[in-house]
Amino acid sequence: MDSLECIQSRRAVRHYLPQMPDDELIEKILAAGRLAPSAMNRQPWRFYIATHSDTISAFSKAISSAVLHEYTKKVLHHPIKTMRELMHAGKVGFDTGDPVFHGAPVVIFITSPADNEWAGLDTGMCAQNMMLAAHSLGLATCPIGMAKYVGLTDIYHRLEVPETEKVELAISLGYSAETPKMPKRTGGRAVFIDRMECC
Ligand SMILES: Cc1cc2nc3c(=O)[nH]c(=O)nc-3n(C[C@H](O)[C@H](O)[C@H](O)COP(=O)(O)O)c2cc1C
Repeated sequence: MDSLECIQSRRAVRHYLPQMPDDELIEKILAAGRLAPSAMNRQPWRFYIATHSDTISAFSKAISSAVLHEYTKKVLHHPIKTMRELMHAGKVGFDTGDPVFHGAPVVIFITSPADNEWAGLDTGMCAQNMMLAAHSLGLATCPIGMAKYVGLTDIYHRLEVPETEKVELAISLGYSAETPKMPKRTGGRAVFIDRMECC
C-alpha cells in the first residue's frame, strides 16, 4: 500500500473479529514501532503484550473503573470539559462489552522511562508507526489513551512494568469487524508566516 493511502485510510477500529493475528505479524508491527524516530535516538519504548481474552477483559474492567473514579474527581473542578470527555468515551466504546479495548484479541501497552521528558512524543511516533504498519498488513488498531490509567488499578502488577517506567498508551490490535467512516477533520490551521504581502 502506498504510504499516503495508508495514512488516509487508517481508522481507529472499535469492533474486532475473534481471530488472533499470527505472531509473525505482531513481530512485524513491533519492528515498525522500533523504527520510529526518538529524541537523541533513546528509543524509550517498551512493549507489554496481552493476548488472552481473560487478561484483556480483566484489564478493561479495572481500567474503566479507574477512569470513572478519576473523572468523578475531575468533574468537581472542570464540570463541562469532563462531561464532554465522558460523553465522547460513552459514544465510542460501550457497545462491545469491552469499553476500553473494544474486544480486540491483542493489546500492546507501550511504556517509557518516567523521567524522559520526550517520551510522550517518542511513544506517540512509535505507536503511529505500529498502527500504519498494522493497517498495511491488513490488521486494524485503535490507540487507547485510557490505558494509561492502568497504573491506578489493583492488577497493574500483572503487567510487570518496572517502577522506573510508566504506561503512555496502549494499542488494541486485531482483524476489523467494521468499516468506520473517517471522523471529520477540522483542526490544523496552517500559516505560512513569511508569505505576507509586502507593500
Ligand atoms: C492519544 C490518543 C488517545 C486515544 N484514546 C482513545 C481511547 O482511549 N479510546 C478510544 O476508543 N479511542 C481513542 N483514541 C482514538 C481517537 O478517538 C481517534 O483516533 C479519533 O477519533 C480519530 O479517528 P481516526 O483514528 O479513525 O482517524 C485515541 C487517539 C489518540 C491519538
